[in-house]
Amino acid sequence: MYDLIVIGAGPGGYVCAIRAAQLGLKVACVEGRETLGGTCLNVGCIPSKALLHASHMAHEMHENFATLGLMNAHADIDWDRMLAYKSETVATNTKGIEFLFKKNKIDWLKGWAEITAPGKVRVGDTTHETKNIVIASGSVPTALKGVTVDNDAGVVVDSTGAIALKKIPETMVVIGAGVIGLEIGSVYNRLGTRVTVVEYLDAITPGMDGEVQKQFQKILTKQGFKFILGAAVSGVEVADGRATVSYTAKKGGDQKLEADVVLVATGRRPYHDGLGLDALGVKLTERGQIGIDSHFATSVPGVYAIGDAVPGPMLAHKAEDEGMAVAEVIAGKHGHVNYDVIPGVIYTTPEVASVGMTEEAAKASGRKVKAGKFPLMGNARAKAMLQAEGFVKLIADADTDRILGAHIIGPGAGEMIHEICVAMEFGAAAQDVALTCHAHPTVSEAVREAALACGDGAIHV
Ligand code: NAI
Repeated sequence: MYDLIVIGAGPGGYVCAIRAAQLGLKVACVEGRETLGGTCLNVGCIPSKALLHASHMAHEMHENFATLGLMNAHADIDWDRMLAYKSETVATNTKGIEFLFKKNKIDWLKGWAEITAPGKVRVGDTTHETKNIVIASGSVPTALKGVTVDNDAGVVVDSTGAIALKKIPETMVVIGAGVIGLEIGSVYNRLGTRVTVVEYLDAITPGMDGEVQKQFQKILTKQGFKFILGAAVSGVEVADGRATVSYTAKKGGDQKLEADVVLVATGRRPYHDGLGLDALGVKLTERGQIGIDSHFATSVPGVYAIGDAVPGPMLAHKAEDEGMAVAEVIAGKHGHVNYDVIPGVIYTTPEVASVGMTEEAAKASGRKVKAGKFPLMGNARAKAMLQAEGFVKLIADADTDRILGAHIIGPGAGEMIHEICVAMEFGAAAQDVALTCHAHPTVSEAVREAALACGDGAIHV
């Protein structure tokens, strides 16, 4: 008899299993993939970051080396080697989780789970008994009407197919200007592919701060991206190994576009097929997510759920936080996730990072709001790195000076955002950040300058 069986070994599930084991519970984790780590480690965050790193190096060489006095640099792209480097990166990470499972005495039950009754999990021919179950079964790409994804054929692909194309395409159409479309689009754009992004809405990166959306689009356009906004894709046809994308644009009506490869990046949906949730009586939300209360409990006692399968942003780190928290709840402690302080990062060049409220959302909440913005043109380090196109924008309550959110475009934005996360966890005012000494020369000084801009003014503008 286990204390806990976790279903799914992605960032939510494996972190939950490790924390529960650390807290003294007898834990097993069910995973049907050949390797641990779920979507994130196997086909998501980690392999895409490997390809982003490699292609960024190529981009720097082509675009910036001569300016730095590094002349005649040229690299032939060996795509197979780049894919092998990606696979090596994935393998070291997935093996790392296997090591952590052994270290924490967590049993890996290999196979796909079905919950046959509360406290009973069937994997293959064996039914395992457990006091508690945590479902961390993740998400899969959403299907788009009129579009058939075939990752093996490699013409119309989702994110999994896009990080394993047989060759670098000459042209690519990306459907959806969200995180996946822009990250993977960046990889290929840097490797020479002509990338066109077709997006239903009038702006890229839905839900982001408006000024960030505009500046980010400008920067990506300068890098070679083409954007068709306000355009709904209605179908993709494949003939002779090439794709034709049909879309209806607000301006321009029905149109067609040809490409070697089409990446469908129109969102993800919760995945819980085959778990037997219907028969078990686990209630779902209207959007097909597993419904949970503030302690991650589903409608069936002893069955909890976390991560992409439940409401909230589909982010690995949100799932990890929930994994730790639910383990603590099950162990009789007080697990908690602060959903107001979950950063979001897009790992393009420059990176885009945000936490908390956008200026638009803060104003809509009825508060008096002030925004302190500092352009990286005033930051010496960003200029020395030839990456001074972005800015830091801090949103604070005009009455209390309390920080409500931050939005950064710039080198290392995904690291810098955590300064603001910590400040927000401590309920800090913009002045607290403004009074904190920041090392010179760092890009982080721009965060302090944005905080100063919320008060008597930034120095370097
Ligand atoms: P997304 O929801 O971020 O963006 C999808 C976009 O597709 C939206 O802008 C939507 O308006 C557009 N769209 C939908 N139907 C369309 C149509 N018929 N024609 C044209 N455009 C259409 O989804 P995405 O990029 O697929 O990412 C899925 C999830 O994975 C997100 O929750 C994201 O946060 C997460 N993710 C996070 C990463 C990170 O944190 N760096 C990296 C990759 C994924």
